[in-house]
Amino acid sequence: MINILHDKDADTAALSGKTIAVIGYGNQGSAQALCLRDSGIKVIIGETETLGGKTNPSWTKAKEAGFETCDISTAASKADVVHMLLPDEHHGRIYSDHIAKHMGKGKTLSCSHGFNIVFKRIVPPADADVIMVAPKSPATEERKAYLEGFGVPGLVAVRQNASGKARDVVLAMAKAMRFTRAGVLECTFEQETYEDLFGEQNVLCGGMVDLMKYGFEVLTEAGYPPEMAYFEVVHEVKLIVDLIFEGGIQKMNSVISNTAEWGEYVNGPKIIDASVKERMKQSLKDIESGAFAKAWMEEAKQGCPNLLARRKALGEHPVEITGARVRSLFEKKK
Ligand code: NAI
Ligand code: MG
Repeated sequence: MINILHDKDADTAALSGKTIAVIGYGNQGSAQALCLRDSGIKVIIGETETLGGKTNPSWTKAKEAGFETCDISTAASKADVVHMLLPDEHHGRIYSDHIAKHMGKGKTLSCSHGFNIVFKRIVPPADADVIMVAPKSPATEERKAYLEGFGVPGLVAVRQNASGKARDVVLAMAKAMRFTRAGVLECTFEQETYEDLFGEQNVLCGGMVDLMKYGFEVLTEAGYPPEMAYFEVVHEVKLIVDLIFEGGIQKMNSVISNTAEWGEYVNGPKIIDASVKERMKQSLKDIESGAFAKAWMEEAKQGCPNLLARRKALGEHPVEITGARVRSLFEKKK
């Protein structure tokens, strides 16, 4: 059984007198920096003042939130813990240009996703500590849970423990962000990275999005009204997932009709059949071998032409156009 840790297993004292530089004040960066600061930890922000020739809105947001905000290299030089929360495809370059020269004995390199360490796009010096603390949640939910006095679950991992204190520090960060209130799983960088990529590619994002799109296409191509199709195969997904989140699949089945439950048993495995499982196994192999990471980094290096084309095409898909219209019709009147 994997080790699950709670508040009593962690002590924020491991961070007393230490400064954490949060590098990148985006989704995770802003949520994590605010939670750490509210828990009494000294946080500074490392950001780029301009991005693509314009003022970087994240720079402005960090300043407005009252953080000491400096360029990435300065922040890395001032901090004990350098917590990298940039988009993963930029970590390698930014680490080598601005952070590497400040890494060494007494320093900790931290992240919320092991991608760049596991796939060796960042190779920290052996005398530095290397840790990961990751929320199992989008940033908005993470901050909301913190403000409500609870927290979202998280993962922690120690990759290098040169100081002998790396585990204390990573648990202190998890506690300061209240992940230990919900519970934190102690894992390896590989487990987090491979599972995260597998989940998002096969079930959560890839997988579910295609299921919804096919469902919508089949209904509308058969002449059913798109608004009804949208409600049926997109909108209601949340209601079903909320029930599973609350009490598992059986709880969901106990709330839906017997007709729906019977349909699930007899038709579900015909739609998502054993061939899907075989392809999922191949996907896991491609993730573990580094083949996925290699192809994605090549795409990123070229400026993401295919990603941008896919993003544009999705915006033109009827499920998105119908969705925007339906949501605006049913919006709460303020
Ligand atoms: P993000 O997309 O919000 O970006 C963070 C910041 O990076 C931006 O605000 C921007 O100031 C800066 N940035 C963007 N492009 C840049 C460039 N070309 N050069 C320099 N700076 C640039 O990032 P997000 O989604 O918060 O992800 C940060 C880390 O957290 C990643 O390692 C990700 O895997 C991890 N993570 C993210 C989760 C999420 O819910 N978004 C959940 C768990 C982990
Ligand atoms: Mg994920």
